[in-house]
Amino acid sequence: MSSIQELSERIARNTALVEQWLSSNNHKMPSFDHDADEVMSRVWGASIDNAAQQCIYHFKILQAIPLEGGATYTEISAKVGLSERKLKTVLRKAMVNRMLREDVPDHVVHTASSALLLRHSYMMDYYGFFIEQMFPASAKFTEALEKYQDSTAANHTSFSLAFNTNETLFKFLENQPELQARFVGAMEGVNRDPSQSMKHVIVGYPWKELGKATVVDVGGSSGFMSVELAKNYPNLQLVVQDYKNNVEKGAAQLPTELSNQVQFLPHNFFDPQPVIGADIYILRHICHDWSAENSEKILRQIVPALKPGSKILLVEIVVSPSQRPTSSIAERYLRIRDMNMVQLLNAHERSESDWRDIVSATDSRLELTRILLHLWSMLFFGRT
Ligand SMILES: C[S@@+](CC[C@H](N)C(=O)[O-])C[C@H]1O[C@@H](n2cnc3c(N)ncnc32)[C@H](O)[C@@H]1O
Repeated sequence: MSSIQELSERIARNTALVEQWLSSNNHKMPSFDHDADEVMSRVWGASIDNAAQQCIYHFKILQAIPLEGGATYTEISAKVGLSERKLKTVLRKAMVNRMLREDVPDHVVHTASSALLLRHSYMMDYYGFFIEQMFPASAKFTEALEKYQDSTAANHTSFSLAFNTNETLFKFLENQPELQARFVGAMEGVNRDPSQSMKHVIVGYPWKELGKATVVDVGGSSGFMSVELAKNYPNLQLVVQDYKNNVEKGAAQLPTELSNQVQFLPHNFFDPQPVIGADIYILRHICHDWSAENSEKILRQIVPALKPGSKILLVEIVVSPSQRPTSSIAERYLRIRDMNMVQLLNAHERSESDWRDIVSATDSRLELTRILLHLWSMLFFGRT
C-alpha cells in the first residue's frame, strides 16, 4: 500500500509528463472554465452508479462475499441467483467507486467501504435508505417541481410521487415499521460521520453547568443521543420524544442502569409540548426537515412549556449564503443534504439569517442568544 506522500510524488511526476506533452502538442491546459474540454461522464454517471448500488443492496451481494478471503463470481452467483455475466457488469461498475475489488481476475474481495457496510448494521441501514428511498425519489424531482411548483407542503415532494403516497416521509415510515426501523438505523449511521457526530452535542454545550436539569429530546428517534448525554452527565434527566414505534424501540434497548435517567414518550411535535418547565428542549436535525412555516409551528408548540431560563437548542447545519465553504468535500456534502431535504420533505438547509428569521417569526419573546459553531458549521441556538 502506498503512503499519501508516495502517491503525491507519483502524481507530481505524472503531472509534469502530462503538462510537457500538452504544451509540446499545442493543447490547452486542463481547466473547469466554460471553454475547456470537460469530461461529461461526471455529470450523468451518478444514476448508473446508483443502479449498481441498488442491485448490490437488493440482492444482498455484499453479504455473499466473506470479509476474509472474498469469493469468485461463480460462488457469488450461486448465493444470490444472478448470472455471472450480470454480476460482473454490476460489480465492476461499483469497483470504479472503490466498492469491492478484483485484484485477481474473477475473484472479488472487500474494500474499506463495502466492509464498513457489512460490519455495521446502522451503516447498511444508511446505505439502504439512500439506495431504496432517496434514489427513486431523486428520479421524480423534476416531475415534483412541475406538479407542485413552489408548494412547501411536506407531502408535495419527489418522495411522495416516487412512493405514490399522500403522507409525509415520516408518516409513511410510521406505517411501515421495517422501513422506519431502517431509518432509525440510518440516523445512527449519520452520527458516525465525524462532522455530524453527536459527540459535538455531548462536548459542545456546557451541560455540567446546568447542575440537576431536565432535557427534552424532541424528535429524538430511538434516543441514542440522550443515552450518551445520560452516560456522560448523571445530573441530567432526559425525555426522548418521537413517533410511538421509535420510542418503543428506544425503551426496549435502554441499558437498565439508565432506566431512572432516560424516559421515552410518544409525542407528535406538532402538538403542544407535554413536558412543562424543562431546562432544555433540544431539537437535533429536526427543523431542517421542515419548511420555515412548519419549523415555526414545531417551535411554537414548545413556547408555552418554557419556564424562565429554559432554552431551546437547535442542532443544525448552517449553510454559507454566498461564499464557498473552505473544503470542496464540505460543499459537496452540504449540497447533497440540501437536495435531500427538498426531495424528501420540501425543506432545505439554511443560512444563519434563515435561522434567525425562523426564530423571530416563531414568537417575538424568543431571543436567539448564542450560536456555537463546530466542525462544518454545526450550531446550537439558545434562548434565555
Ligand atoms: C432526521 S431525524 C433526527 C433524529 C434525531 N434527532 C437525530 O439527531 O438523529 C428526524 C426525527 O423526527 C421524527 N419525527 C418526524 N416527524 C415527527 C413528528 N410529527 N413528531 C415527532 N417526531 C417526529 C422522526 O421519526 C425522526 O426520528
